[in-house]
Amino acid sequence: MPRVTVTRRMRFNAAHRVFNPSFSDEENNATFGKCNNPNWHGHNYMLDVSVEGPIDAGTGYVLDLARLRDIVEAQVVSLVDHKNFNLDVPFMKGVIPTAENVIVAFWKILEPAVTPAKLQRLVLWETENNYVEYSGD
Ligand code: NI
Repeated sequence: MPRVTVTRRMRFNAAHRVFNPSFSDEENNATFGKCNNPNWHGHNYMLDVSVEGPIDAGTGYVLDLARLRDIVEAQVVSLVDHKNFNLDVPFMKGVIPTAENVIVAFWKILEPAVTPAKLQRLVLWETENNYVEYSGD
């Protein structure tokens, strides 16, 4: 069977403050600038979740995208949407909530959740100009 990659886009919004608590205020301002605002700021994120696998002969699907949507909603989006990454999200506790760290945390949750399909790539858009991607290494 041919192997195909399918992608579901999800959207959520969340707040954060990007800073390192072990840095001084001056270091945090110099390193993170506006992102270090102590009173938080938010983004409208987009998350592209790509899974790869053989086309199922019975359904013609690699993985029903409605099912993928439900998995990502339940496992990730519902835990972060309208939340503060620094305060509200248990799996980001003690982690600087950059897009880089967020996408790796999402990967750890989603990789086992999409089996038997294989999680191939995540792309996390923080703004329309900035995105990060991760393929799990
Ligand atoms: Ni930000």
